[in-house]
This record gives sequence, structure tokens and C-alpha cells, in this order.
Amino acid sequence: MKYTLDKKSIRQHMVPEWFHDAKFGIFIHWGLYSVPAFASIGLKYPESMNEVGPDDYLKRNPYAEWYLNTLRIPDSPTQKYQKETYGENSSYDGFVPMFNEAIEKWDPEQMADLFKNAGAKYVVLVTKHHDGFLLWPSKYPNPNKKNYMANRDIAGELTDAVKNKGMKMAFYYSGSLDWSFNPNPIKDAASFLTNGISTPEYIEYANSHWYELIDRYGPLILWNDIGYPPNTNVYEIFAYFLNKIPEGVINDRWVQTYEDGKRITPHSDYKTPEYITYKTIKKKKWETTRGIGNSFGYNKFEKEEDYMTPEELIRMFVDVVSKNGNLLLNVGPMADGTIPEIQKKCLLELGKWLEVNGEAIYGTRPWEYPEGKTIDNIEVRYTQKKETLYAFLLDKPKGDRITIQSFFIEKNSKIQLLGLGKSLDWNQEGENLTILIPENMIDAPAYAFKITPKT
Ligand code: GLC
Repeated sequence: MKYTLDKKSIRQHMVPEWFHDAKFGIFIHWGLYSVPAFASIGLKYPESMNEVGPDDYLKRNPYAEWYLNTLRIPDSPTQKYQKETYGENSSYDGFVPMFNEAIEKWDPEQMADLFKNAGAKYVVLVTKHHDGFLLWPSKYPNPNKKNYMANRDIAGELTDAVKNKGMKMAFYYSGSLDWSFNPNPIKDAASFLTNGISTPEYIEYANSHWYELIDRYGPLILWNDIGYPPNTNVYEIFAYFLNKIPEGVINDRWVQTYEDGKRITPHSDYKTPEYITYKTIKKKKWETTRGIGNSFGYNKFEKEEDYMTPEELIRMFVDVVSKNGNLLLNVGPMADGTIPEIQKKCLLELGKWLEVNGEAIYGTRPWEYPEGKTIDNIEVRYTQKKETLYAFLLDKPKGDRITIQSFFIEKNSKIQLLGLGKSLDWNQEGENLTILIPENMIDAPAYAFKITPKT
């Protein structure tokens, strides 16, 4: 099908099966902000925003990739950190040579191997964050700053490595915000609304970047962030993309805000909640995104207690999948591209768990309802695939049996625990289903019971 430049045409685009099947992607926030790798500790998105209010939140922003913005806020901890660490007259631009020197060591194969071993099916690289620094050698350089791009083709080298290992590659691009075009910080609710750039020069620049990224690297997702400048037809980009890459996917952060406050929400294939999960199955495909800790860019001051444990991560992932979501889990590499040990550990634990339980995750769809409980209050989640139903137990059973409340299965059903294989004894007692637990059940954050045929 050929898409035309209007909403009606693009709206016919369906979320491709690969995106439904994939469930797990890796997000990479890596750039100049990875050099200082600093953000204040203590606040969390989104809850702290309401608790302390936007002004205080922005001054102590927990997102390290917002370093440049926080640096511009008078008397922020970031200002103090910058002066103490890099000197009174230092600037954010001073990180360019440091970053370029650090990335000489980077090994894209090694990075892609880690993502593969974590069980990821796609990778979303931040090609330009709000600071405006480019991670690919663009034909459209920054008009305000010289050499404001990485001196390696990070986007290209990573695309090759990721594709070679059988994963899909996608790009994030900060559409509306570009702080290399705007010296003013976002310091309160009002400046958040007016910080985006909408000059014809910038529109041309951003559009050219999207076309260039599509033409040169063939990304599978256009992952735009914080809106797109008004007075430009985003459907031109969408149609161009989908006609070239029919398996492509478009996220939901392309809202265009006009000076009079009018907002236009273009078509999106899926939603991208941030640090948020849901209680129910969402009809529209969604992908939750978050750092393993409280930041996307690496914050070297985050401690173990600021990160999710692998157990929490795995349980959250199962929960997301049961409700029609994908997980876009972020890594924040150090400036030289090394993934910090604590993040690596989480990824590898997840990968190990997926080796056993991936069958109940990849390629599944939500079941009739997502959640249940055992009579002793262990959380249960469901997924399904063809004739199979999967019931996940989100904790280790305390005794030799579990009883799931309000859960019926067919008389001739077979129940197996993934990883063990053999059929388990079970019986239906009224509304509840009891499964006898094998003795040699290993310790795991979540267990998947495979039930065939599906009820
Ligand atoms: C937000 C933040 C940002 C992060 C992103 C990831 O919009 O501004 O720093 O890149 O979302 O979802």
C-alpha cells in the first residue's frame, strides 16, 4: 500500500506484528551528558514533580541527560558540580573533545552482544537529545556550533552490529527541544511550554535529519520526543518512512503546539508512557520506558538502592507484557560506551530468565484478563499464544502447592512449568485451581506455567 501525506492515509497503518511480538527493546541515552554523568539524587519521575513542584524538580532534575538545562538554572546543584569539577570558566561544550576521545575505545559489537544476551529484540538509540549534539556524521551540521557531532558514526556502527545479531534498530530524536538553538533553561511550567524551537531554519534542520536518518540507516521506529515544531506537515515524514519501510512504527510524541496554545496530535501507532505501568489491558499498543535507576543518562552518583533489582525488573516486565505493553529498558553507558556493571547485571539476569521463560513472553498476546492472585496473595499474570495459556507466578510458592483464585481450565489440560518440562498434577476445586509444585523448583523472580489447551 502506498501512503499519502494525510492523517486518513497514515491512520490505516497497523502496528506490525514484529513490534507486538518483540516485547523487549533497549533504549540508549549516551552523549555529552555521559561525560559529567551527574544529576541530583533523591527525586523520581513522575511522582516528585507533583510532590516538590516543577521549579524545585527542574533544579534538582534526576535525569542526567538534562545536565545542560539544569546547568543553566541559577544555583542548581549541577552548577555547583560543574564549577567544582571542571572549573569556573568551563562550559558544556567543553565535553565535546572529552566525549570524542572517550568513544575511540567503544566496541559496538560488544555493546550489541550485551543487548542480545539480555534478550532484547530491538534497540532505540538517542541520535540527538535535547542538548542538540548529534551521534552521526550529518550532512546537516549544527548552524550554531562548530563540530557539534560525534567523530564516530555511532548510529551507523551500532545499526550494523545490532542488525548483524538479528535485532531491529530504531532512532530517538528530540524534535521540538534543541538547546543549541535556545539558551534559556526550562525552569518552571511556563518555560517548558515555550522552550521548543519553531523557526523555519530549525524546522528545515530537524526534517532534514529525520530524512537523512531514514535514508542512511533504515530505522524501524521513528521515536520522536517532546513534540515536533508546528507549521510543518509531519505526515510527509510519516508517509516517506512507511512507504520506504512498511514494517516501520511511529511513536506518539509528535504533538505540535502552536503559539496560540492550539495543540495538534498526529497519528501514532503506539503510546510511550514513562516510568508508568497500568492496571488493565490497554487496547492501544504501548511501550513503557524507564531507566534501570532514576535517570536515562548515566548518573555515576546513583547507588544500588536507586536501581531496580533484577527481580523487580523481571516482575515489572511480565506485568507490562500481560497488559499489551512492550518494555523499552534504558541503559546509560559511560562516556566511553561501557555499560556500568550494575546495569549490566540487571540485563544479564533478565536474559538468563528469558532463556527459560521467553516462550511465555515473545510472540504472546494478552489473555482475557491480565491479573490474578493465589489464595496466599502471590501475584499472577497471564499471556497467551495460539492454543497455549501462560500463567506467571510473581514469587516463589511457600509450600508444595499453589492455588490460583477464580481460574478455570479444561478437564484434559496439561500444565508444565517452563524450565522443567514434565507435567504437573493439578485439580480444580470449585472456582480455584490448585497446582502441585515440583520439589526441584529453582529460585526465580517469576515462574511460567504453560497450560494447554487454553481454556
Ligand atoms: C523525556 C525526557 C528525556 C528522555 C525521554 C525518554 O521526554 O525529556 O530525557 O529522553 O523522555 O522517554
